[in-house]
Amino acid sequence: MLQDSFGREFHYLRLSVTDVCNFRCTYCLPDGYEGKPDRAFLSLDELRRVAAAFAATGTTKIRITGGEPSVRADLPDIIAAVKATPGIRTAALTTNGYKLPERIDTWAAAGLDALNLSIDSLDPAMFHAITGHERLQELLDGLDRALELGIATVKVNTVLLRGCNDNQIDRFLAWLRDKPITLRFIELMQTGDNGEFFRRHHVAGEDLRRRLLTEGWTQTIRARDAGPAQEFHHADYRGRIGLIMPYSKDFCATCNRLRMSATGKLHLCLFSEHGIDLRHLLQADDQRDELIAFLRARLADKKVSHFLQDGFSGGTRHLAMLGG
Ligand code: 5AD
Ligand code: SF4
Repeated sequence: MLQDSFGREFHYLRLSVTDVCNFRCTYCLPDGYEGKPDRAFLSLDELRRVAAAFAATGTTKIRITGGEPSVRADLPDIIAAVKATPGIRTAALTTNGYKLPERIDTWAAAGLDALNLSIDSLDPAMFHAITGHERLQELLDGLDRALELGIATVKVNTVLLRGCNDNQIDRFLAWLRDKPITLRFIELMQTGDNGEFFRRHHVAGEDLRRRLLTEGWTQTIRARDAGPAQEFHHADYRGRIGLIMPYSKDFCATCNRLRMSATGKLHLCLFSEHGIDLRHLLQADDQRDELIAFLRARLADKKVSHFLQDGFSGGTRHLAMLGG
């Protein structure tokens, strides 16, 4: 088991496979991806070794993230490799949903258990304004197909944005009456690059939380490898709601996750100053014990909190660097 000096246990790995993204979300990459396109991201073998080492220390869930993971042609192989790792119960993927209807069958066949889709608005024009793509209907069709295929967990991520979607909560709630998904409203986080946008568009999730409780939503108990959301259910709705409020007190107390960047750097926190390079320990299968010892030792450096509430965003310029 991986444990830090505050007694937190780590059962959940977020594994970035690329930092390239083909969307231009206003809060993340408003000018599109600007990195060097020739960067060498972890190979399938290296990713397999990461998965095996974490699984051997108690990780049960791996979420594949980006950038946008589907820009990699070998994504189905990555999903299959994660799924085939002994000890991994959940192979999860976070995607912007680009060409989802064409791709979801292959991902399901590769063994995908959990799909998170980013949908910041159910209004096609607003979706376009936020992401730079007129693709809302494609995402909604892909989401329905994922449900049809029986993917066990389907979630939607919606970043709460003042003046863009915070007046559309009713529409989201109406949508959830018949959709057996979890819709997670995420508070906008300040990163190195989005300070001005953050000041204009950040909305605290607390008002929404109060509204849900007033309208008969009940908070659900959290699983050991669950994400950071507080979840709510309601007898009249097939869908559930999650609230991710990184600025709330004690958000970091339940931290159960670690992150690996697409170039093989371990990040102890989404907002750490820099990653810890461990690519040299991913070059052969027989390095696994050394890698595990390295992981255990470095975990001692994990800090108690992200200190976001003090305006600190570490070395994180935008979340495409590390997949959120
Ligand atoms: N604040 C909150 N959420 C963000 N995401 C990307 N950038 C931010 C930010 N600054 C979301 C994406 C995606 C998830 C992985 O993180 O929309 O759904
Ligand atoms: Fe791409 Fe996700 Fe960033 Fe949007 S939030 S630009 S989909 S990495």
